[in-house]
Amino acid sequence: AVDALKRRAGEIVDAFESGPEERAVFSSRDRAQLSQHALAESAGEVRCFFEEEAFDGDGRLVVDKAHAINKIGHALHDRDAALESYSRDPRLAAIAAELGVADPLLMQSMLIFKQPRIGGEVVWHQDASFLITEPQSVVGFWWALEDATVDNGCLWVATQRGPLRERYVRRGEGFVTEPLDATPWPSGSDIRPREVEAGTLIVFDGLLPHASAPNRSAKSRLAYSLHITSGRAAWS
Ligand code: FE2
Repeated sequence: AVDALKRRAGEIVDAFESGPEERAVFSSRDRAQLSQHALAESAGEVRCFFEEEAFDGDGRLVVDKAHAINKIGHALHDRDAALESYSRDPRLAAIAAELGVADPLLMQSMLIFKQPRIGGEVVWHQDASFLITEPQSVVGFWWALEDATVDNGCLWVATQRGPLRERYVRRGEGFVTEPLDATPWPSGSDIRPREVEAGTLIVFDGLLPHASAPNRSAKSRLAYSLHITSGRAAWS
């Protein structure tokens, strides 16, 4: 499955053509850099987003396309037959049931690259800030498709969930981050790296703070991620 998912990621990037005006960048660190229009459209599509550091000052790619993509999202589970079959594997439904997620709905999917040397940081966040249900019901599934280590930007997770700190809200054509709770993001002895081998699945609650460091190593750190919510909870 890991090999098939990696192959499919490569094929999507190969087939992706973009002129300079369509080059959407994904950045969690600097949300002003993030291509908000492309992000909104990607909810129901398969779109490629570039690493922030993939371009020079004149907007030219500094690495080849295959090493420039930050992520592909966010409807791979609906729009890509190969990824759909993995995303709707009955074993995932069984995990959702075990976790008590009633009527699980597959809301979002992404291939996250974390390219060698230029792979961008993902700042501390909770996935429930981006997929809002009442009550909170988001659960994240995160597969390492390559070994994930501290060096190439593995996940870091908090030891406690805590309250939902912020909410990412659609405003007109764009998005704004609304603060909800002033509890600081964890640090020091309250955070742990999750180094895992390719093929490992990490499942975590939508309130768990997590982050990942930039990748300055020579090894890429490809991951596939799904987010589910409960169909019994109210969608915003
Ligand atoms: Fe996340």
